[in-house]
Amino acid sequence: MSIFQFEITDNEFKAFRTFIYDEAGINLSDEKKTLVTSRLSKRLRHYSLQSFQQYHDLMMAGNHSGEQQVAIDLLTTNETYFFREPKHFNFLEKQLLPKWPANKTLKVWSAASSSGEEAYSLAMLFDDMLGSNPWDIFASDINSQVLKTAQNGLYLQNRIDGIPKKFLRKYCLKGVDEHAGYLLINKNLRQKLIFSQVNLKRPLGNVGIFDIIFLRNVLIYFDMETKRKIIRQLVEKLQPKGYLFIGHSESLKDIHDGLKIVSPAIYQKL
Ligand SMILES: C[S@@+](CC[C@H](N)C(=O)[O-])C[C@H]1O[C@@H](n2cnc3c(N)ncnc32)[C@H](O)[C@@H]1O
Repeated sequence: MSIFQFEITDNEFKAFRTFIYDEAGINLSDEKKTLVTSRLSKRLRHYSLQSFQQYHDLMMAGNHSGEQQVAIDLLTTNETYFFREPKHFNFLEKQLLPKWPANKTLKVWSAASSSGEEAYSLAMLFDDMLGSNPWDIFASDINSQVLKTAQNGLYLQNRIDGIPKKFLRKYCLKGVDEHAGYLLINKNLRQKLIFSQVNLKRPLGNVGIFDIIFLRNVLIYFDMETKRKIIRQLVEKLQPKGYLFIGHSESLKDIHDGLKIVSPAIYQKL
């Protein structure tokens, strides 16, 4: 160990790889050794430990309750932004929302929502287009920290690039004084969304049945077996003819499960 950076042995890396795979289904390749080292080092410092093995032992022993969740929070990658992959929002705006029956509640799940930008982007679009027609958004993630950000709806001003100007005016408040440099999603919108912790690798329980599920930029972290299992579970939570959106860089190749593709990275339940 140098003074500046802890080093991780192959066996220690394998132990964390097994942990995050078992808990979250995330499949870390050998190249992710540096990522594990840099993200977990602060926990070794926090507990004044000398090695990753000691941190792993502490985490698994269970007498520091919550430490496994801390490690999960540190090992997940939460990159996201407002109106990411605009083609999906265009599809909703041009094809799906104009045909949505007036008094039927549109039920949507942002199933790996990270810090909430995806869910709030959907909310802005629905509020703007559906007017007083009912809609619900449920948003979830495995990471407890990003969910707190999502619930607060408070973002750094420099994150707003993708938000159309008319939505910025309609749904976002510019921070002043101690909130200068931040943007707050307005209260009406914040109150409409429900954020909750859901681990997609575990049985989903009673999350509801949805017309649309966004599952974007999370499948890339899973191996084929986990992907299959997660898609199967999610399709059960879709209404017949409901839509599943995945990231444009992801694929459902060899995973059919009663879905047909209707547009790039958009599937419909048969
Ligand atoms: C890269 S972000 C994608 C966020 C958003 N969907 C988007 O496309 O911008 C991936 C998210 O998946 C979450 N995640 C990873 N494994 C998960 C699991 N097993 N269950 C639920 N969420 C998971 C991570 O915590 C992270 O916030």
